[in-house]
Formats: sequence, structure tokens, C-alpha cells
Amino acid sequence: MPKIFITRTLPKIAEEILHKHHFEVTTFSKNRSITKRELIKEASDADGIISLLTDPIDKDVIDNLKCCKVIANYAVGYNNIDTNYARKKNIIVTNTPDILTDATADLTLTLILSCARRLVEGDKMIRTNKFKGWSPNLLLGTDINNKILGVIGAGRIGSAVIKRASAFGMKSIYYNRSRNLEIENLYSSKKVSLDYLLKNSDVISIHLPLNPGTKNLLNKEKLSLLKNHSILINTARGEIIDENHLIQLLKMKKIFAAGLDVYVNEPNINIKFLKLSNVILAPHIGSATIETRSKMAELAVKNVINVLKGKKPLTPVV
Ligand code: DGY
Repeated sequence: MPKIFITRTLPKIAEEILHKHHFEVTTFSKNRSITKRELIKEASDADGIISLLTDPIDKDVIDNLKCCKVIANYAVGYNNIDTNYARKKNIIVTNTPDILTDATADLTLTLILSCARRLVEGDKMIRTNKFKGWSPNLLLGTDINNKILGVIGAGRIGSAVIKRASAFGMKSIYYNRSRNLEIENLYSSKKVSLDYLLKNSDVISIHLPLNPGTKNLLNKEKLSLLKNHSILINTARGEIIDENHLIQLLKMKKIFAAGLDVYVNEPNINIKFLKLSNVILAPHIGSATIETRSKMAELAVKNVINVLKGKKPLTPVV
């Protein structure tokens, strides 16, 4: 009976399907992320692993896997896995693309609108008993209608964000390696250089994977190109932005606001963010809907089953 190790309790459909296919399943059931040491110990004899984006699956971990044929990451991003080394060891790595596109794009729009309309500041005002009634200047935000959205990374999620933003009357430009004719045709979006996008967008939203080429892409020099009324959104990976410089910009009110779902050192958020009222901090919940998480569990499991039954995985990472 093939053994599957799951690094955290997932929606129950995952175990149900695996049991139906007669796999032996062990789940790390403590209510926290597994440590590297625990992973090395617990997963060593697994034929397949279902991992989370918080699990560091590096060379040390891979070297300790005796018979693993597949690592199915329960996320679209897979920067937590040394995929090159896994490939060398003949381990297939899969992810969960597509099915979390809508949920992540929805959260992106939530952050854009909440930043533009200062929703979290308003909520805090009420909870701290500081709301003293309607006033002409109370919490003035900014319109998004007719504003320019700059999307960095026009893949599935970036395109879904452009689609939604266009329904709110936003125009869009995008920065991407290749042209995306679909968004150009449907939403008159235009491909531009990164510098042009940063200088000309009212709202900037990041939708790139984290890799050596995107790490710190928005460094001090690039961040300094932002307009002083711009809103910066990141639902991709924290390491793409120079967080310290972003904090400086927010502190000095050099941009209007930032909406973040991801951070450099999760879950240890830079405490300087906590003192700023012009940043909205979400706890990495881009794909966190009941429906999406179930679909992700199902896809991760199907990838494992396919590989262990000698079939092609549905969504291998390239
Ligand atoms: C992922 O799956 O990589 C995203 O971070 C979800 O929010």
C-alpha cells in the first residue's frame, strides 16, 4: 500500500479520496506548520507528499526521502521546494494552478477597494469609539473609476484582476515577459516596461511567482518611481518587494496606501507595518475560501494518485 504523508490537516476530501484508492495516509495533525526536522523524520518513507507553501522542501529534506516519487504542493506558488534538485532525484513536483485564480483575484480587488476607501481605518475608528458622526472630510479615499491599474505579471491571476478591475471602470497596463493578447483584446490592456508601469499606474498589483529573477524586483530604485497617490497591492510573495523601503514610503506618505497579503518573513511580520494606518495587512489568505481550498485538496490528491499509478500528473510544475 503506497504511503502518503500530508504535512497539515487539509479539507477532508483529501483523505477520503486517498483512502478510496487504498493509500495509507499519515497527516501531521498538530495545528501548526511542520518543522524541517519533523518533515525529515516523518516523510522519509513516504511514496508521496502533500506539502504546504510554508514547508521548506530543500536539498536536506529531499536527500532524506527514501522512496518519494511525487511532492504535490497545496499552492500555486512552489518557491518553498527545490524543484531542480527534486527533478534530479526523479521526484515530480506539482502545484494547484487555475482553481485558486478567482479567489486570489477577488482578494486582490478587496485590497484595492479597501485601500482606496480606507475601510480598515473606518472599522478601527468605530471599534475605538472615535466615530463622532458624518462629516464632509471624514476618511476621504480615492476613486478607482477611470484610474490606471498596472499589473505586474499578467498570467492567470493578473488577467483575472484586470477583468474585475475593468468592471470597476479601471484602465489597465501590464508588465509581462510575453504579450497577453486576450487581455489586450478584451480589456484594451497594454504591455509596457516595468518603469513605465510604476511611473504611470494609480494602482499597482503584483502577480509574479517568486524566483531569483523576481526576488526584490521592486527594490528601492523601482519603488521610488511610484506616484505619491498610488496604491500598491501584493498577493504574490513578500520577497518581491523591498519591505523596508516600502515601510519608509508609507511612513513618509510618499504613496497613498499598500494592501498586502504576503510578507518577507511570514508569519513574523515586520512590526513597523503595525504602526502604519495606510497599510492593510491580510494574513496570506489569497486562496482561503471553503470552495477553493477543497478544490486545491482534490487537485493535490489527484496529482499524487496519478503519479503513483504511473499516469501523468494533472499539473506538474515546469
Ligand atoms: C499560493 O497558493 O501560492 C498563494 O500564495 C495562495 O494565496
